[in-house]
Order: sequence, then C-alpha cells, then structure tokens
Amino acid sequence: MDLILCAGVTAVESLLANNIPGQESRPVSGKISLALFFAQYFVVKFYRIFLYHRYFSPLRHLPGPTDNHFLFGQALNFLKAESPTTLYVKWMREHPDAPFIRYLTWCNTEVLFPVNLNAHREVLQFQCYSLQKPAWFLRIVKEVAGHGLILMEGEEHKAHRKMLGGSFSLKNIRKLEPIFQEKARDLCSYFNQCIRENDNQTGTIDCTTTFSKAILDIMGSAILGVKLDYVKPGEEKAEQSNDLKAGCSFHEAYDIFFSPKGIGKVLLFANGFIPTRWLPFDANRKFLFAMGWLNDVLRNLIRERTRHVSTATAEGKYESNDSRDLVTFVVEESLPGGIAEGIGENEFLGHLLEFMAAGHDTSANMLSWSLYILALNPDIQDALLEELKGLPAEPTYNDLERLPYLEAFSKEVLRMYSPSTTYHRATNTDIIVDGVHIPSGVLVDLAPSVTLMNPKIWGDDVDNFDPTRWQRLTGDQLSPYAFSPFSNGPRICIGRAFAMFEIKTILAEIVRNFRFVSVDNGFTIENPGFTLRPHGLRVRFEELKK
Ligand code: HEM
Repeated sequence: MDLILCAGVTAVESLLANNIPGQESRPVSGKISLALFFAQYFVVKFYRIFLYHRYFSPLRHLPGPTDNHFLFGQALNFLKAESPTTLYVKWMREHPDAPFIRYLTWCNTEVLFPVNLNAHREVLQFQCYSLQKPAWFLRIVKEVAGHGLILMEGEEHKAHRKMLGGSFSLKNIRKLEPIFQEKARDLCSYFNQCIRENDNQTGTIDCTTTFSKAILDIMGSAILGVKLDYVKPGEEKAEQSNDLKAGCSFHEAYDIFFSPKGIGKVLLFANGFIPTRWLPFDANRKFLFAMGWLNDVLRNLIRERTRHVSTATAEGKYESNDSRDLVTFVVEESLPGGIAEGIGENEFLGHLLEFMAAGHDTSANMLSWSLYILALNPDIQDALLEELKGLPAEPTYNDLERLPYLEAFSKEVLRMYSPSTTYHRATNTDIIVDGVHIPSGVLVDLAPSVTLMNPKIWGDDVDNFDPTRWQRLTGDQLSPYAFSPFSNGPRICIGRAFAMFEIKTILAEIVRNFRFVSVDNGFTIENPGFTLRPHGLRVRFEELKK
C-alpha cells in the first residue's frame, strides 16, 4: 500500500516538475525520481513504525504493556512465552475491566484485544461483520483449510452458514452415535494393547498423537463417510488401503499441516506475510505434496459420491435416511430443490478441508488436557466414575446429556485449557466499542482465555480446576460471553455440539474402563500455535478392576 502511495506521489511530483510555469520543460531523470521515491518511502515507513503508535494513534492511550522492543514490540515476548495465551492472560489481569488492551507487534503495528464482557459482546455479536479476518491470517488458513466458512464474510458467510447448519443440527448429530461409540471402544482396545505391550499392569500413551488419530478416524466417518481406523489395534495394514489413494495418508498429511517441525513451522507462519512455499526446502516439498494429495482425494470423493447419489436417485433406488456423513448430506442437498442446490465443487471442497482442519486439533487437544487433569486429580476421577456407573453400555446423546458432572468437567477443561488460543480480526470500517473509537484497518485478536481466566468474572479461585463451580454460577458467570471457548455470535463454532458429544462419548468410555494414574514426563505447550497443544504429554493408566 505504502509502495503504491509513494510511487503515485513520485509520479505526480515528476510530472509537476516537468511543467513548472515560466520555466523551460526539462524531464526529471529516472535517477532523481527513484531517489525521490525511496526518500518518501523511507519517511512514510519511519512515521508508521516509529512515530504513529507513540504520538499520533487515537489508540495510544489504551492500557497495555510498555516493555516493548523498539522494532518488534511484543512479538518476541509472544514467541518466548510459555504458551500462546500466557501474555494475553497476564495483561488481562493487570487491567481486568478495560474494554481493550493495546499491544505492539512486528514493526510496531498496533493490535487490540477485548477484555471486558461488553467489548466481547460488541465485537463478536453486533460488530461481527465490521471485523474481518486479516490478510496474513487468511493466507495461513487458506493453505490448510481452503475457502470455507472461516474465510467467508458478510452475505456469503450468512448464506453458507444457513446451508450447512442442517448438517450440524441435533437431529443429524444424533445419527453419529454409532460412529462415536465405535471409536470410543477402539480407543479402549488400543489402551489395552498398550498395557499388554508394556508390562500387563500399566500402559502409557502420547496424548496428542493418540487423540489426533482417533479424532481423524471420527472425522473420516462423520464428515467424509470413509473408514480410516488409525487407532484400531491390529489394523495397521488396513490403514494404508483405507486412505483411498497411495502416496500419503490423512494422518501424515494432517501431521504435516498441524505439527510442522523446525523450519516447517517458520515457513507456515512466515507465509502469512511473504510467500514462502516456492523456497527449495524439504518442508515445503512435503507440505505441497500432502496438500495436493488431500485436494485430489477429497475432490474424487465428492465426484464419486455425487455420481452415486444422482444415479441412484434417477433410478428411484436412493434411500437417504441412513446417511450420516457430511459429504453425503451436502450431495443430497445439492440436488434440485435442496438447500445446497448449486453449490460449486470448489466451495464444497473448501468446506470439507475446513471441517477436517477445524474439528481435528481442537477436539484432540481437549481430550489430551482432560486426561492430564484426570491423572493429577484422583478425587475428580472418582466423582466422574461414580456418575458414569449407571450409564448403559452404548450411551446415546440423551444419556450423556443427563450427566451434570461430565458436563461440568468438560466445561471446566474448556475454561482452563481453551483449545482455541486466539482467532484474528481487523476492522474493515471505523467502529465505536464501549466508548473506544477504533479506526478501520486495526488488528484485533480474540483470545478466549481472556474471559475464561478473568478473576473478575470467575473469582479468586479462577486458577483452580473445579467442576463444581458450574453448579453455582452467579452474576457475570452466567453471561454467554463469559464462557466462549467456541466463540460467540454469528460466527460461533458450527461444530460445537458435534465436538461436545464426541468428547463426552470418548471420555465416558475410557473413564469407566481405565484409571489414569500419572503424567509420565514433562511436556511443553506448542508456541506459536492457534490451538493449545501439549507437546509430549504422556499419561499412564491401568485397567479398572470391575
Ligand atoms: C473442542 C472443539 C472445538 C473448539 C474449541 C472450537 C472452537 C472454535 C472457535 C473458537 C471458532 C471461532 C473462530 C473464529 O471466529 O475465527 C470456531 C469456528 C469454527 N469451527 Fe470450531 N471448534 C471445535 C470443534 C469443531 C468441530 C468438531 C468442527 C467441525 C466438524 C468445527 C468447525 C468450525 C467451523 C467450520 C468454524 C467457522 C465458523 C464460522 O466462521 O462461521 N469446530 N471453532
């Protein structure tokens, strides 16, 4: 933008210099124009990086950290922090009632994040479409999640949200009962195998790896209608053929997208600012191959399913009652008269990529943190087990909804370990929120932990893991904006009921079959990261004596 501005100004200046009235017309040389251009560009950049945020910005009086690096603001502190949310929580606790906190990032760019409930309500609900995903975030997300709901704005977002809402309705989610139950049982078999392979007494799992595979299995069945069986003991060979096409696997592909190592991670984040995928690194080669593979597989799946449904419908043989997966649902609804009539293949593909990505890491992380808490808190485990005693062998959605402690436990995990660390916006117009005038083009971060860990809302015991707090909510704790790990407003997570049902089914099954006894070693929280991922978390368990 600044480049274009300076180029335009230089062109005008050169033109005017050529035509000074009363003077002989002498064209300005290319060298002088270039020097003029660079001088102006330097002045503009100097103003933007060093002067604007300090002396001119209307946001300069907002509270925020002051220990800024002269050029990178808080960017390096973010990278050095224990987790992606540490600094948001720290600053929130210094100003728990503020509408917004301002911090500086790379090149002293200003970023705001809402703190109090009113500012959250305004930003998420009433000004939802006045804040859009910033360009850097779009570039990163588009790579792995395609052009789906997350990237859509305004009318396009509203139309697609309406179209897809049906597939995430309670009626449709209940159809997933057998899928969730089967995967919960597979996980138990896998845990038993880990015990057998260890010493027949106890076993351990790497939580994020195991749950990533289990959730991918579920997403395969529930979203794509494809059996993957990554955590089914004794199925290692089948896993290959179930991946539809040789060359890669869903698990390998998502491992490359969500857990890039070293340079792979740098390239992923840097790509938001400057194109990096053309650089001759092995990490890029692997990324592009996995992405190409995934796109091919999903495109073929859409075509095959469309062919199947259209042919069977034309022959009058198609029965749709049993269809459980999202691909089939959308294919059925794309037939004449359906709510998805006219959906293009690229839009369809975008939604699939997005659902697979959005529902994968978040749910796996929530399960990992659940096991961490259970292993460290035997009393909480006892209370949960006690409640699960009356549960039928194959619990339905309704059975699980009747369990208040399981609900409270799940919410408390989401409160203290919100799987979504931050999601990003930029204002696309001037707005006024809680008395703060925010000009167009300002970056706004939303970090669920800012409200979930706010002592002004949750009290002095905000840092204690206490499921019983959900039985005595008062005041601000009752606001939907106090508890928003799934966000809120028109862009609230479309998969939240799906995720809660899936996670509760798995927790119920593993807690009534195993005792989680310890956390085996130290672990780190991946940073930077859009999700709260405990890297290297290993939990030890034994079979529960019945
Ligand atoms: C514990 C699990 C989950 C958590 C914590 C979570 C959290 C979130 C959050 C915070 C957002 C808002 C992001 C933003 O506005 O930028 C979101 C959006 C979204 N989530 Fe989830 N999610 C979870 C599971 C799922 C699942 C299972 C699916 C799909 C199967 C899913 C699909 C989506 C989609 C498509 C959006 C974009 C919605 C829109 O912009 O209209 N999520 N999620």
